[in-house]
Amino acid sequence: MLEVVSSSGRYRVDAVDTVAEAIAAALESSSAGGGFVLADATVVSLHPDAFGQVADSSSRLLVIEASEEAKSYAAIEPIIEALIQAGIKRNSTLIVVGGGVLQDIGCFIASVLFRGIAWSLVPSTLLAQCDSCIGSKSSINVGRFKNQLGTFHAPKQVYLVFDLLRTLPHDEIRSGMGEIIKLHLVAGENELARLKTHLAHYAATGEGLDQLVWDALRIKKGFIEQDEFDTGRRNLLNYGHTFGHAYESATQYGIPHGIAVSLGISTATFFSEQLSLAPAGAADAIDELLKPWYQPYERVLHQADRQAVFAAMKLDKKNTGASVTCILTRGPGQMEKVPLDANAQVFELLSKYYERISIPNNL
Ligand SMILES: NC(=O)c1ccc[n+]([C@@H]2O[C@H](COP(=O)([O-])OP(=O)(O)OC[C@H]3O[C@@H](n4cnc5c(N)ncnc54)[C@H](O)[C@@H]3O)[C@@H](O)[C@H]2O)c1
Repeated sequence: MLEVVSSSGRYRVDAVDTVAEAIAAALESSSAGGGFVLADATVVSLHPDAFGQVADSSSRLLVIEASEEAKSYAAIEPIIEALIQAGIKRNSTLIVVGGGVLQDIGCFIASVLFRGIAWSLVPSTLLAQCDSCIGSKSSINVGRFKNQLGTFHAPKQVYLVFDLLRTLPHDEIRSGMGEIIKLHLVAGENELARLKTHLAHYAATGEGLDQLVWDALRIKKGFIEQDEFDTGRRNLLNYGHTFGHAYESATQYGIPHGIAVSLGISTATFFSEQLSLAPAGAADAIDELLKPWYQPYERVLHQADRQAVFAAMKLDKKNTGASVTCILTRGPGQMEKVPLDANAQVFELLSKYYERISIPNNL
């Protein structure tokens, strides 16, 4: 169990055994206006019985195919309309079951519908369990621009069902690992050493994802409780994200989010070494840790037009003026927000990074 303190109150993260149990508990603790479930289509098809308890009144269950298009401003209006038509009220609870995409959609709707309603979450991907399920953020795409709209709206309860991780495609495990590794790197040397032990155990046995999730959440809790609205220290959790988001955009989301973050961390460390912030060898060391989780997506990135990557970086919402703001590093636990000169530094270093990841055609 983990308890998170937010400006709108405390909420708990509890582990339960099954999806059915999680939904039953969320429905039971729904406010007087009843529970309305917004669920990922894949999860519904994998756990049909668990959703049977909501489907007695089928209009209370809305099923959505997860994609970046689905979490766009344009795609959200029909979902809100359907919820209103189904009878959702100011005192209802929106129960969200799915990965980061469903969470972003659900949290955004819960924060704006009737000026805010309660919501609970059953995160179904590794990324959503280890990272996004706490922290209150929603992010919504506008046209082809990622995560440009957003709100802060804490859930009232999070239910972790580790059994959900068993059906995830391997890429989704690797995607979650990107965020797990990021959190441990930002936390410092001790957490990194602990992570390496747990990763070795997972590689050898296929066991221990639950421990990695709890550790990642414990680290994240420290940052979000200190800086819930992301105006200071929480910014450091964006390590790898300026590059990662640009890689997602420039490949039309051809790289899963957490894998793009892994590649972004690799790039940020390379930039840090080139700018003499990090010591020589830092980029090689980080690639040794990350490569098993991002390969072979460096090929996808290498095929992406670097001008498109550069253009997407210039649109990052952390930027001010003519600079591109990146979180760079001096080493584990020593991340810094650094404004880089977009024209003089970023494209040149990005081109060097592309040379680093260039792969001979015949391989
Ligand atoms: N709000 C935040 O704090 C925050 C933080 C990080 C990332 N995000 C956002 O999260 C999104 C990525 O989320 P994600 O990586 O969880 O992916 P996702 O929600 O897109 O899900 C990935 C795929 O896995 C499937 N899936 C979900 N649960 C499954 C299960 N248990 N078994 C089998 N398949 C399952 C989905 O249907 C989908 O096809 C991005 O849009 C990113 O921007 C948000």
